Amino acid sequence: MRFPEDVPVLTDGVVTLRAHTVDDIEPAYRMCQDPVMQEWTTIPVPYLREHAVSFLTDVVPNGWRTNTMWAWAIEYEGRYAGTIDLGDGEGGVGEVGFALSPDVRGNGVMTRALKLAVRHAFDGLGWERVIWRAFVGNYASRRVAWKAGFRGLVRVQGGGRARGVRKDEWVATLGREDELEPQGNWWSVPMFEGGGIRLRGLRDSDAQRVQEACSDERTQYWLAGMPSPYRLEDAEGFIKTRLHLMAGGEGVAWAIADLASDELLGNVSIFDLNDRIDRTVGEIGYWMHPDARGRKVMTSAVELLIPHAFKPVAEGGLGRRRLVLKAAEGNSASAHVAEANGFTHVGTERAASPRRDGNYDNLLTFDLLADEYAAR
Ligand SMILES: CC(C)(COP(=O)(O)OP(=O)(O)OC[C@H]1O[C@@H](n2cnc3c(N)ncnc32)[C@H](O)[C@@H]1OP(=O)(O)O)[C@@H](O)C(=O)NCCC(=O)NCCS
Repeated sequence: MRFPEDVPVLTDGVVTLRAHTVDDIEPAYRMCQDPVMQEWTTIPVPYLREHAVSFLTDVVPNGWRTNTMWAWAIEYEGRYAGTIDLGDGEGGVGEVGFALSPDVRGNGVMTRALKLAVRHAFDGLGWERVIWRAFVGNYASRRVAWKAGFRGLVRVQGGGRARGVRKDEWVATLGREDELEPQGNWWSVPMFEGGGIRLRGLRDSDAQRVQEACSDERTQYWLAGMPSPYRLEDAEGFIKTRLHLMAGGEGVAWAIADLASDELLGNVSIFDLNDRIDRTVGEIGYWMHPDARGRKVMTSAVELLIPHAFKPVAEGGLGRRRLVLKAAEGNSASAHVAEANGFTHVGTERAASPRRDGNYDNLLTFDLLADEYAAR
């Protein structure tokens, strides 16, 4: 192919993909100074002007000429906004990479650009599949890929590399026959207030309180799956991985915070939302910081969440039909939270709740149905 003559211009009316020109060197160079860009991509650091010159006047034109990489400038509101490229393609499978100038982010530009590029991969280049890869933690990129229909996300330990350092990466793909629409739910964490508490997303600054709560003797006794000892880095990891839970549609976790001080008092989650057989159920799980126990805080937290769990997905809820809450026999405080919220004890699984000392307790199952809740 000839560059730039044969570079197809792709547009959806809002975003246009076109051949790069030398005028893009300056804004591309500026974009690559962004620390976010440097963290999540493999560009050289420090990023010099000559890197932008060589990429746009040598690497990109040669990619088109040799049929090995197809890179476009992304144009939005009449100016250069970023770059997107398709690469490889051998055997009908190739990869996509992208980056956007910081001032343009958050307007849906990359989602539009990605859809244009993958359609070209299928219709123009005849590919069967496009692969998206990102370093673990790059939720902006993951969300773009999810919105454009990429699916089957897996984590590959040490699969990525940047400037000589191995990193864990996420990989997802999109096939020629797949719809360019999100698959599964990406839950958000709406805020709720009432009864002197606020339910909000967990923050990095909650780590200390999480560590105190989870290393507490009673938490450790009833939740035997917790790391033991529970260190600050376990708390930090817990907070970080809540995003993964939500992005994968598995569950949603809230911090229970004091309404006045915003200090973390506990944690409540609704999880197992991707049950293989029945996607209308959800399980409630929780723990409290020891200094906040005995004040009915968890009862209030669960009460605040029930309407959200039963609300249809189209209205911003979790679309559940049945909520389950499980408590080890003997954990009367936990059973009380279920009963105070109108859950019914529907069964006891024998020796089903592992204890840290290697023994097992019976496990009480409580449930609440959307119908009976609505009829109250
Ligand atoms: C990834 C990137 C291209 C996204 O561009 P963009 O135009 O902002 O993308 P979009 O607006 O189409 O979508 C971004 C979505 O991610 C969301 N998002 C952004 N940061 C997020 C975060 N930290 N956690 C969760 N979601 C996040 C945005 O809210 C938006 O979702 P919404 O439209 O539903 O609100 C841009 O952030 C970027 O250039 N990053 C640096 C380079 C990079 O990471 N490239 C990809 C390497 S794999």
